[in-house]
Amino acid sequence: MGQGVLTGPFPRVGGTVHCGEVSAEDLAERFGTPLYVYDLAWIRGRVALFHAAFAGVDHLLAYSVKANGNLSILRELHALGCGADITSGGELFRAIRAGMSPDRIVFAGVGKTWEEIEAALDHGILAFNVESRAELERIAEVARGLGVRARFGVRVNPDVLAPTPHRYTATGHAATKFGVPWTETRELYAWALEQEHLAPVGIDVHIGSQIVDPDPYVRALDRVLELAGELRQMGVGLEYLDIGGGFGISYDDGPGLDIALLASRVVPRVAEAGLRLLLEPGRSLVGDAGVLLTRVQYLKRSEEKTFVIVDGGMSELIRPSHYGGYHEIQLVTSPEGRKAQTVDVVGPICETGDFLALDRTMEMPAAGDLLAVRTSGAYGFAMASNYNGRRRPAEVLVDGRDVRLARRRETYDDLIRGEA
Ligand SMILES: Cc1ncc(COP(=O)(O)O)c(C=O)c1O
Repeated sequence: MGQGVLTGPFPRVGGTVHCGEVSAEDLAERFGTPLYVYDLAWIRGRVALFHAAFAGVDHLLAYSVKANGNLSILRELHALGCGADITSGGELFRAIRAGMSPDRIVFAGVGKTWEEIEAALDHGILAFNVESRAELERIAEVARGLGVRARFGVRVNPDVLAPTPHRYTATGHAATKFGVPWTETRELYAWALEQEHLAPVGIDVHIGSQIVDPDPYVRALDRVLELAGELRQMGVGLEYLDIGGGFGISYDDGPGLDIALLASRVVPRVAEAGLRLLLEPGRSLVGDAGVLLTRVQYLKRSEEKTFVIVDGGMSELIRPSHYGGYHEIQLVTSPEGRKAQTVDVVGPICETGDFLALDRTMEMPAAGDLLAVRTSGAYGFAMASNYNGRRRPAEVLVDGRDVRLARRRETYDDLIRGEA
């Protein structure tokens, strides 16, 4: 077991940031930079924390594959009893390839295509989380063609505005594209009850991401439970209630969502309703289990700013420029006497928006230094791109002293694969 289990992930040992028992300097030396590094022991610990907190109710952790879909991570999560929350045929493919059981997979997303619905039905997934009437009609049609009954739950938009760090990550209020309006849900289930090829088995809600307060969850849950009661009276055979994901973690010194506290309020309610609880954690299982290692290339000074130019930027980690995501950045090895200075940490991409941190006060790096961009395990590699002809970085999984290459760095040939 890595030291991360005891002290937090990526502790400093002998002055150098480590993952498990392996020095980040050694990993960068061996695999190059920029490099994603994940602490498997930490991920295990997070899954165990969720299982323990929700032990009082029949539950399924449907890991949100969008956060980090690396096959090795999915395989590990499957071994830990997790299922998957997917948003596309590609994520279905990944989850199945990783050995995940279809009957533990739920499929969300507002734009499911014919092809994706057919593939999901062919595999026999646990359920679709349906986002509109038009989508449900399409699912019914595909199911009819295949001669099966499609299991589904409606993703209810509970019109609960949860405080999230950025407006792009709030999803549970009326002004977003997600979910079926609260007021239209009963009618949709009533229609579905009459369809031979539809099996309404669940109800679903997801109110946003990076939420650190349990209250909005409980408010949304109470609305959905009320609705679930009414649906049962209508004859809907509900099996599960899916409370979504979005459980906040700590990116800085602030607190993450207290999972035990959330569970203490959710478990009795759902248990009393006699429903299976589905949760869709993404970031809260893998976010702080990852760092992006990047090396300083140059320092550059203008009249107003000092720029630390590193070899990883928005093509590797887009959260800072996309929605103002904050990531702590530290020197992997901190030499004596480095003074704190306020800098912009920027990447090599030709965009002014290419930065990892703006106006950040940190120990002043020098060219050649290795930096660890913390809490990058979720929505890091998953949102990486080839923009500016960049090869997506390698990903490494560390388990104590065991190091595994989970994805090799892309080559230039990878960049042109598929082009005529
Ligand atoms: C429907 C749904 N479930 C789960 C998640 C996972 O969110 P997080 O990684 O913040 O837990 C998302 C994130 O966008 C989502 O849209």
